Amino acid sequence: MYVCLCKGLTESDVQQAGRCGQITGAGLIASFGLNDEGCCGRCAENIDDLVQLAAGQLSPFPH
Ligand code: FES
Repeated sequence: MYVCLCKGLTESDVQQAGRCGQITGAGLIASFGLNDEGCCGRCAENIDDLVQLAAGQLSPFPH
């Protein structure tokens, strides 16, 4: 399931990032470019949801 339409990210992408140790909001925003030009910004504004998903504390992610 897609969790970020702007970047085409799936739950699996975020969970994989979490398994690689990427479980901070700033880290996820930077690695996936969630503040890039052309992105809607919704993911960066709600980064806690992605952090929980990366940390294995949230699934599935409603988007
Ligand atoms: S849906 Fe993720 S930045 Fe737009």
